[in-house]
Amino acid sequence: MKPFIYHNPTKIVFGKDCVVESLASELEQYGKRVLVTYGGGSIKKNGVYDTVINVLQEAGKEVFELSGIMSNPRTTKVREGIALCKDHQIDFILAVGGGSVIDCTKFIAGGAKLPDGVDFWQTFFLEHQPVTEAIPFGVVLTMAATGSEMNNGGVITDWETQKKLSGYGPAIFPQFSMLDPTYTYTLPREQVAYGIVDMLSHLMEQYMSTPDDDNVTDSAIEGVFKNIVRNGRKSMENLEDYEARSNIMWGATLALNRSLGLGKDQDWMTHALEHALSAFYDIPHGEGLAIMHPAYLRWILPKATNRLMRFAREVWGIERGSMTEEEYALAGIEALEAYFREIGAPSTLQEVGIPKESLEAIAESCVRYPTAYSNLSVEDAQLIYESVFEK
Ligand code: NZQ
Ligand code: ZN
Repeated sequence: MKPFIYHNPTKIVFGKDCVVESLASELEQYGKRVLVTYGGGSIKKNGVYDTVINVLQEAGKEVFELSGIMSNPRTTKVREGIALCKDHQIDFILAVGGGSVIDCTKFIAGGAKLPDGVDFWQTFFLEHQPVTEAIPFGVVLTMAATGSEMNNGGVITDWETQKKLSGYGPAIFPQFSMLDPTYTYTLPREQVAYGIVDMLSHLMEQYMSTPDDDNVTDSAIEGVFKNIVRNGRKSMENLEDYEARSNIMWGATLALNRSLGLGKDQDWMTHALEHALSAFYDIPHGEGLAIMHPAYLRWILPKATNRLMRFAREVWGIERGSMTEEEYALAGIEALEAYFREIGAPSTLQEVGIPKESLEAIAESCVRYPTAYSNLSVEDAQLIYESVFEK
């Protein structure tokens, strides 16, 4: 196990009705002027908006709003939020939504503390400076997927330059996150599936890496992975299965609150391959991952054979029988692919409308770096994309 330091200050409040019961008390210590950030309107349809606004009004807060945060949130929206915070001296931000709303909020919170004239994209994304000061913010989570509710990273897209990049910093952990599984009941089926793909992908990014030792973290990943597979299936069968939705909601948080990568190198190359796709074609993150993760695992198979055999055995319970090492490693990848198909996620780029001619440009824009099992050139990235263009 490699050395590590772990510190995660985000307070989690979990359970049915937690927003009604606990939001007001969590907000007591913060100032009066609260900005509520949200997406394209789902929270108005399912009643979450009314619940949150009622709590805020009863708590005597002055409420401001930033709506219309799009999936794969863009620099333009972050800038709009920063201006709003500066104009109205916002004391606290409450993000009500999924990963896109939370990520956008993180960089609004950090960007609002930058001096006038200093751009957040240049500072936090192009120069990779960590966010060290931010307006405090909290989360009411409505979608189980990214883990953004309990980590200090976020992903923003600059549509003009077609770059989707990650930023981070000690100041952008949410102060608290409220997780009511019933708030996720209204998610469209395909978004539930994309969320499941995303959380499993986060687990694999951490699991498929060195050192290939007997790390307790790997055993924890295997347990969380199997639970999500099982409860993901139950969730798809009955979107209002409280126990199943609870498990995938907390499972998603665990999968990327950064505790399950401790002591390991981690990989994250599949995420880089996916971010390049959604920067060009604005597809849902989980959709791109469902296509790219099996493709990347096939690519690293010759170097990661041991890990992949363990994945087949421990996660999928596959018996080796007379299989060669390569066949056994491949069997785990095929089980993963079959699961993604079973829950309704796509497996080719063609299915999601990405044209073959664009793959070279996407490969060029993909952020590449050496990992334990790969060191992709532009040509390699293009080959990986091409391998899943069509079946
Ligand atoms: O915008 P609204 O109308 O709210 O609709 C959203 C959106 O269309 C809808 N939705 C959310 N909760 C709902 C609901 N619809 C009905 N009922 C509800 N309860 O779902 C759609 C997708 O929401 P979005 O927030 O975009 O999804 P997700 O949580 O998957 O977030 C994706 C973004 O997070 C980034 C991704 O790259 C992408 O930009 N990621 C962030 C990470 C992080 N900060 O740690 C890590 C991830 O790997 C990921 O890269
Ligand atoms: Zn992800």
